[in-house]
Amino acid sequence: MHQSWTPPQNYRNRPVVILGAGVLGRRIGCIWASAGFDVRLRDPSDQQREDGLAYIRENVASYAKGSEDRIGTAQAFERIEDALADAWLVIEAVPEKIQLKIDTFAQLDIQAPNDCILASNSSSYRSSEMLEKVSESTRKRILNMHYYMPPQCMVVELMTDGYTEEGIFSFLVERCKEGNTLPFIARKESTGFIFNRLWAAVKRETLSILAEGVSVPEEIDTLWTEMFINGRSTPCKMMDQVGLDTVAFIESHYVQERGISSENTVDYLTQNYIKHGKLGTKSSQGGLYPPVKSQTTDDSENSPLIVLDLGLSAASPTMTSGSVLELSTDGKHMKTLVENQSLPDGVAVDPHTNRVFWTNMGIPGKNDGSVLVFDRQENTTKELVSKSSINTPKQLALDTVANKIYFCDREGLSVYRCNFDGSQLEKIVQAGNPNDSKEAADARNWCVGITVAPKLGKFYWTQKGPSKSGQGRIFSANISLPADQSLASRTDIECIIDGLPEPIDLEIDETSCFLYWTDRGEIPYGNSLNRLQLDKSGNAFHTSTGDTHNFKVLSRHFNEAIGLKLDTKNNTIYVTDLGGNIYRCDLNGENKSVLHFDKLRAFTGIAF
Ligand SMILES: *[C@@H]1O[C@H](CO)[C@@H](O)[C@H](O)[C@H]1NC(C)=O
Ligand SMILES: *[C@@H]1O[C@H](CO)[C@@H](O)[C@H](O)[C@H]1NC(C)=O
Ligand SMILES: *[C@@H]1O[C@H](CO)[C@@H](O)[C@H](O)[C@H]1NC(C)=O
Ligand SMILES: *[C@@H]1O[C@H](CO)[C@@H](O)[C@H](O)[C@H]1NC(C)=O
Ligand SMILES: *[C@@H]1O[C@H](CO)[C@@H](O)[C@H](O)[C@H]1NC(C)=O
Ligand SMILES: *[C@@H]1O[C@H](CO)[C@@H](O)[C@H](O)[C@H]1NC(C)=O
Ligand SMILES: *[C@@H]1O[C@H](CO)[C@@H](O)[C@H](O)[C@H]1NC(C)=O
Repeated sequence: MHQSWTPPQNYRNRPVVILGAGVLGRRIGCIWASAGFDVRLRDPSDQQREDGLAYIRENVASYAKGSEDRIGTAQAFERIEDALADAWLVIEAVPEKIQLKIDTFAQLDIQAPNDCILASNSSSYRSSEMLEKVSESTRKRILNMHYYMPPQCMVVELMTDGYTEEGIFSFLVERCKEGNTLPFIARKESTGFIFNRLWAAVKRETLSILAEGVSVPEEIDTLWTEMFINGRSTPCKMMDQVGLDTVAFIESHYVQERGISSENTVDYLTQNYIKHGKLGTKSSQGGLYPPVKSQTTDDSENSPLIVLDLGLSAASPTMTSGSVLELSTDGKHMKTLVENQSLPDGVAVDPHTNRVFWTNMGIPGKNDGSVLVFDRQENTTKELVSKSSINTPKQLALDTVANKIYFCDREGLSVYRCNFDGSQLEKIVQAGNPNDSKEAADARNWCVGITVAPKLGKFYWTQKGPSKSGQGRIFSANISLPADQSLASRTDIECIIDGLPEPIDLEIDETSCFLYWTDRGEIPYGNSLNRLQLDKSGNAFHTSTGDTHNFKVLSRHFNEAIGLKLDTKNNTIYVTDLGGNIYRCDLNGENKSVLHFDKLRAFTGIAF
């Protein structure tokens, strides 16, 4: 009977040995020490040993990320036989010369404990090529364990030497995770493991594009960023989305043009997928991935609404009782996506990835506002713009052409934008000096609502004015800052309309050039939903006396109206108010009805 593999006895109290204290060896040492194992570095060079130990001393805490109860010790040895005593794991990171590797494994076969796992970090040789002087039984304990460069990249790939015991992989996967590394198993011997092969293909084709003069490095990199980083595409998901029949068709074209084999592309897809009706996302059989289970029947057609609850109407409100909610389009089913938020205000959904972006105001007047993102697929929340850089972020809008997030900062008296990952945060409007207490307190400078019109090349924002004062305004400016101008000197800011009761959130319909907004000011015209017709360039029509015309109050009698969201395809506008209502009405304001009411909620932003 086949005897199953058992982990090295008492391995928790036995050391991990790294052969080679160079740049990589010392980093691998750090990983294992951070996971609580005692580490021994072996290197013939005094200097390398000294530097290796110093590196581990200085960096081990940051590798541990505060997650470890115990950090292992580190020692350095000149002689390999001294280092090996009692080791449960040896990782060789000696120079990449095959004869040296063969001799090293021969020595390990004899001198390492006979239950010790032996790993090679070699990327250019399979461990099977290093086995010629190794006994049959020891081969079962040998594998490739290839680290990319930690701590920038905490990935490790594990690969069999052709004989490695199955049990070693699951055991090492668990130990790798203890060291905060992300392990991947190559299921067969493969020159280049997994990632290096992927990278090899990308390099090869990139170089061909350059060699043929088809493109230039800058543009290739921008294209990559746009498609794979901003667009968040991944190879297998993207093929499923494109359709495997289409992928095969395109590959067959390359097969003909280049005279290459179709075995691993067209034939593989046809035999294993297309023949069985597995064509990707569009097919009920799935594709490379299994079919996506359809959601509950009542929202399988409609995308649900996403709405924010400020949290201040809760039974026992605190500054962090806000939440991000999902509401079915019939208004009947509400569920919490993210809880314990600090006064959430503006929200938008990226239609390409379904990620939900929103702002938390934090405590108004304090620099503790933030911008966050919730990824439905991963069920994770991430802070994009951290506390301390912004004051009181309000409505948020997405430019899905340039992949930019726009948002107003009320007490910061400004408008900002940044990338979808939070990088390149830039202030694009400064409506007053927030450091001047008089200007900061003047609500005429308070930027609140925002909408972006990529086709018109403009963005629009509201400056609400003191509560119910009739001093509210809406402005526009160009998405591209005029050449040679700065934040302080930009001359493209225009007041679209003024004298409004208290305008809050905004949205533009670029097709009809209608600008819509909510207003929470005083009756008769406050607490309303409003619309302004703009011209084809996105500017307001003015009368000869300078008044803005083509302005209409579409609907009134809201209870502190805040959020709005257009669904032009369905002739619908959704509006929220602080009184706990979510309404829907036609684009012309008619047929208003309450879609959802909850007196324990105070609704702000809304999206879908
Ligand atoms: C281990 O892998 C890394 C990453 O490929 C490489 O830089 C390093 O040279 C390898 N070390 C050895 C000795 O195999
Ligand atoms: C939210 O806060 C409540 C009350 O403090 C707590 O019980 C709950 O675990 C928190 N939820 C999350 C996801 O942190
Ligand atoms: C999403 O994560 C939260 C904790 O962050 C958990 O309570 C919830 O059950 C998860 N939802 C799903 C669908 O996995
Ligand atoms: C306000 O003061 C901070 C800190 O001194 C400074 O960084 C910032 O530029 C000032 N803002 C303006 C608009 O003057
Ligand atoms: C703003 O953009 C518009 C339309 O692209 C352009 O006509 C105008 O000159 C720009 N304004 C400034 C100040 O550059
Ligand atoms: C909105 O319109 C789409 C088609 O454009 C339709 O599938 C959906 O059911 C409609 N949603 C509502 C809530 O009317
Ligand atoms: C909307 O209102 C108009 C008149 O105001 C009416 O003719 C129409 O039937 C209404 N539509 C719906 C869907 O209720």
